[in-house]
Amino acid sequence: MRFLVIGDIVGRPGRKAIKQNLSHIKQDFGIDFTIANGENAAGGNGITRDIARELLNSGIDVITMGNHVWNKKEIYEYIENEGRLIRPANYPLGNPGLGMNIYNKDGVLIGVINVSGRVFMPPLDCPFRKVDELLKSLDNKVRVIIVDFHAEASSEKVAMGWYLDGRVSAVCGTHTHVQTADERILPGGTAYITDIGMTGPRDSVIGVKKEIVLEKFITQQPRRFEVADGLTQFNAVYIDVDVETGEAKDIKRIFNVE
Ligand code: FE2
Repeated sequence: MRFLVIGDIVGRPGRKAIKQNLSHIKQDFGIDFTIANGENAAGGNGITRDIARELLNSGIDVITMGNHVWNKKEIYEYIENEGRLIRPANYPLGNPGLGMNIYNKDGVLIGVINVSGRVFMPPLDCPFRKVDELLKSLDNKVRVIIVDFHAEASSEKVAMGWYLDGRVSAVCGTHTHVQTADERILPGGTAYITDIGMTGPRDSVIGVKKEIVLEKFITQQPRRFEVADGLTQFNAVYIDVDVETGEAKDIKRIFNVE
């Protein structure tokens, strides 16, 4: 079964890149199931109900989130009723929504897990132990498991790849918005990439207007971030998984610019 996992969709340019790329990439790679990180889809900060619907209607099967999950208030209620939108599983008890959900695609059960790192990130529960807990709770009929590890530090992500090697089909890093060239199949059969990258404005500082970020770095004064415009990029990985064993057979990076 062929999966497409899309890197952080940033604002309107990111949504435009989805419109321009998604259907032809799905066709070219024969994609069966698509997962996208949407935590920056609304103006670079969080996601709204309307934008989540728009993305789901455009051919994305599951939206994962991250540290910006609670930025838009309406999501608190929406995430309770929309099982195709998941948020990091290691948020403390009392938060709405799910951190893992199971989907049925043509009779194949697919587990999707979203978990957040803790290095240079909010101090959530331990992501390693949280994934253990989630995997333990799964029925063994669920062989295909894709993890979106939303984390800042490459070391924490590489460590998670090794930790889950042989136990999940793929560990895909998100959050830094910069695609890494380290995609591989680990020895236990888990597809791994440190960061899928960003689907959003290319000539920017990780999605934000470069002039604003430069001013902030140079003056050390607070600045209001705005999503950049201009050329867009579409970043994703294609992953081929053997549905009988759950092992990944192939992972390829996709980096399109328009
Ligand atoms: Fe993030």
